[in-house]
Amino acid sequence: MRIAVAGATGNIGALTVAALGRDGQDVVRISRSLGVDLTTGDGLDEALADVDAVIDVTNGPAADRAETVAYFGAATRNMLAAEERAGVRHHVLLSIAGIDRIEGNAHYAGKREQERLVATGPVPWTIVPATQFHDFAATVTSWTERDGVATIAPLLVQPVAPADVADVLAEIAAGEPRGRHVDVAGPEPQDLVDMARRTNEARGRAVKLVPTWSTVFGPAMAGDVLLPGDDARIAPTTFDEWLAEQR
Ligand SMILES: NC(=O)c1ccc[n+]([C@@H]2O[C@H](COP(=O)([O-])OP(=O)(O)OC[C@H]3O[C@@H](n4cnc5c(N)ncnc54)[C@H](OP(=O)(O)O)[C@@H]3O)[C@@H](O)[C@H]2O)c1
Repeated sequence: MRIAVAGATGNIGALTVAALGRDGQDVVRISRSLGVDLTTGDGLDEALADVDAVIDVTNGPAADRAETVAYFGAATRNMLAAEERAGVRHHVLLSIAGIDRIEGNAHYAGKREQERLVATGPVPWTIVPATQFHDFAATVTSWTERDGVATIAPLLVQPVAPADVADVLAEIAAGEPRGRHVDVAGPEPQDLVDMARRTNEARGRAVKLVPTWSTVFGPAMAGDVLLPGDDARIAPTTFDEWLAEQR
């Protein structure tokens, strides 16, 4: 099969390209640095020639709610219209577990707009909600780290290995559209502050962590709201196994 990855140069995108390659698929890589801009549609028709399925693992700028919704909306509309023209038979969207249960931050609003457009759009689809990735704590602290101090919300999460998510996306794209997929999660719940502390330790970085809800993750995200549903697909790699590779 010929499968395009939108966001192919990103964290999850590069792993998805690798997973598709291992599965023997013919992969088309899409990103601005590779000459395709989803917000304008430039280069999209050429990229989607003879493509059977598209996996969307793009990301948006960290902007306010309205800008984030507009960004994801424009990119998704352009993609779906180009896919319809090209006769693409399956659109796979990576989303986030729990964003239908809580309002959350601006990024969540953008992801819900993607989901809405995909679910009401012209191309048969699968939406794959994943929990936070094992490197999520490091990502979050990198947003605020100054002079060895970073803030972080004490979220309860059930993180999943990015490579495991990539494997699931590659498998789903090769199959029939399924609509809303069950949540994809890792094997164990974790406290995000503890994940950050252990990630820094494994990477030999001395960072003082300040737990707070005064971030893009507010108190409405406390408790079990980010945990996967009871019927979740549990991916194998534990946080400890992933951490061992960071040393
Ligand atoms: N991190 C988590 O814990 C987590 C959990 C669940 C779901 N997710 C979802 O995973 C997705 C991907 O996250 P990530 O961390 O892998 O993202 P990332 O590393 O920031 O990569 C984003 C990719 O999108 C491309 N891109 C951005 N704007 C584009 C545009 N206008 N046109 C074409 N390509 C564009 C980028 O390439 P160029 O810059 O070259 O364009 C890059 O390849 C996000 O939507 C996020 O919601 C993340």
